[in-house]
Amino acid sequence: MRDVRELLLRNGKEKTFRHVSQVAEVCRELAVRFGLDPELCEIGGLLHDISAVIAPADMMGYAVEQGFELCVAERKYPFLLHQRISAVVAEEFFGIDEQTVLSAIGCHTTLKANPTRADMLLFIADKIAWDQEGVPPFSDEVNRGLEVSLERACYEYMRYMNDNGKVLCPHPNWTMAFGYLCGQV
Ligand SMILES: [Fe+2]
Ligand SMILES: [Fe+2]
Repeated sequence: MRDVRELLLRNGKEKTFRHVSQVAEVCRELAVRFGLDPELCEIGGLLHDISAVIAPADMMGYAVEQGFELCVAERKYPFLLHQRISAVVAEEFFGIDEQTVLSAIGCHTTLKANPTRADMLLFIADKIAWDQEGVPPFSDEVNRGLEVSLERACYEYMRYMNDNGKVLCPHPNWTMAFGYLCGQV
């Protein structure tokens, strides 16, 4: 695999590199805890935000070039595209062909309908490895959720975001994932 660190640092993305390193570490820990493949989960963590090397203003153009079908939320908030673009970069530039990894990267912000355990693991690791000041406000709920299952942890995070008006424009995948999780917990 090509060097994630080198690519991010060469593009002035030190903060992203620190974040993905932390996410990769959490992914490994959660993989051991929940019986998933630690190596694959760690790779997903390292590459999940690799599209940070593409300027936000260029994301829409890149998505159109790739022939992505875009939903209303993605048109309104092109930042949401970074998950799908990261999956493309992981596959095409880093040669990742493991579908479980590409899927998890591609839905790490919104999750999706019927998520796999690897999808949920990266999704929640990204939220636990908080990239802002202090402790995440949903930390207690999510940690309690993790004592039960990945489903419960993802549900608690999504419920917190929904109940606190933090979801600017729900992506259809977010809505479907939450509906799925409501039926699981
Ligand atoms: Fe991300
Ligand atoms: Fe992230």
